[in-house]
Formats: sequence, structure tokens, C-alpha cells
Amino acid sequence: MTKPNRAPTTRPAQQKKPRAKSASRLAPAVTPTPTPKPKLPKSPTGIQGLDEILDGGLPTGRPTLICGGPGCGKTLLAMEFVVRGATLYDEPGVFMAFEEAARDLSQNVASIGFDLDELIRRKKLVLDIVRIDHQDIEESGAFDLEGLFIRLGHAIDSIGAKRVVLDTIESLFSDLPKFHDPA
Ligand SMILES: Nc1ncnc2c1ncn2[C@@H]1O[C@H](COP(=O)(O)OP(=O)(O)OP(=O)(O)O)[C@@H](O)[C@H]1O
Ligand SMILES: [Mg+2]
Repeated sequence: MTKPNRAPTTRPAQQKKPRAKSASRLAPAVTPTPTPKPKLPKSPTGIQGLDEILDGGLPTGRPTLICGGPGCGKTLLAMEFVVRGATLYDEPGVFMAFEEAARDLSQNVASIGFDLDELIRRKKLVLDIVRIDHQDIEESGAFDLEGLFIRLGHAIDSIGAKRVVLDTIESLFSDLPKFHDPA
């Protein structure tokens, strides 16, 4: 057998690289041990992508403020949080609305498959529409939230609610002169 002819190869002269001193010779190997982060209990919103971003959901037992311009989806997000809580996680919810009528809310979310009337009937949801007469408040000069808290507490107790939405906090104060002029 003859060896196949090969084209002569020319290899550039290789320079010997200075060998790096092994780290193990310099210092003993230290394996960093990750410190476990303390876990904050979370309540899943039921909105898959959002729960991934939030590392499990919204912090349980704490208020979360949702901010954004008109029409950006605050009400829909809050409604989904309550509806998914009731349907997926057995956590009844109270949705207290200061701006929208119950019928508007129900109609809006019916088209995305949420049946609010059914949840209300099964005592999984309380939809409480609160009308605040700012003119009355300005005339009487008195404004405190005690009555509202009693009403909210009653709604929570009536179904053992675990999730509560106030839509929106801003409307409680927006028409009051002090809200615009803190001085
Ligand atoms: N079922 C639906 N199907 C499609 N679009 C909808 C539905 N319900 C609401 N929208 C639209 O989704 C957007 C978000 O509405 P949403 O009421 O949640 O906004 P928002 O941030 O609460 O607004 P605002 O500040 O005025 O209260 C709006 O443009 C609304 O018209
Ligand atoms: Mg809204």
C-alpha cells in the first residue's frame, strides 16, 4: 500500500505561549455559594407572562398600585386578577369601582370570557359600585374614609375575600381642591 500524496503543508512556526499559572497554584479554589434569597409570598395574577416577570405574582397581603395613562388596561388587569383568583386559585375577590357602572364592567369583560354575574351568584365575587358625590363633600367640608372602609369590610366578610381591588384610588381624591393644591 502506498500512502496518498499529500500537498506539502507549511505550518507557521508556532511561538510558545507563556503558560498561565494555574489559579489553583495561587489560591485555593473558592466555589461561590449562592446565598438563597428570602422568598416573598406571591399571589399569582393568573396572567402567565406577567406572573413570570413578577416571579410568581403580586406580593401577598400587600397593596399594589397600578399606574398608567387612560385606557392602558388598569381596570382590565385588576379585573383579571380578581376573576382568575376566584376561578383558578379559589380566592374570592371584591372589586370596588368608583368610576364605571356595573353593567359596563360586566359587558366589557364578558367578551373576554369572564362571567361576572355567575361569579357573583356563586359568592366568588362582590362587585361594589360606589358613587362619591364630591360636591357634597366640598360643601360639608368633611371627608374621611371610615364609611368606605366599613362598606369594604362588609363586602370582604360576606364572601371571605382574599383579593381586593379599588378602582381607582385616585377618584377618591381627584376632585378635592387639596388634591391639586397640597400647600
Ligand atoms: N372586552 C374588551 N375587548 C377589547 N378591548 C377592550 C375590552 N374591554 C376594554 N377594552 C379596551 O381595553 C383598553 C383598556 O381598558 P381599561 O378600562 O382597562 O383601561 P384603564 O387603564 O382602566 O383606563 P382608565 O384610565 O380610563 O380607567 C381600553 O382601550 C378599552 O377600551
Ligand atoms: Mg379604568
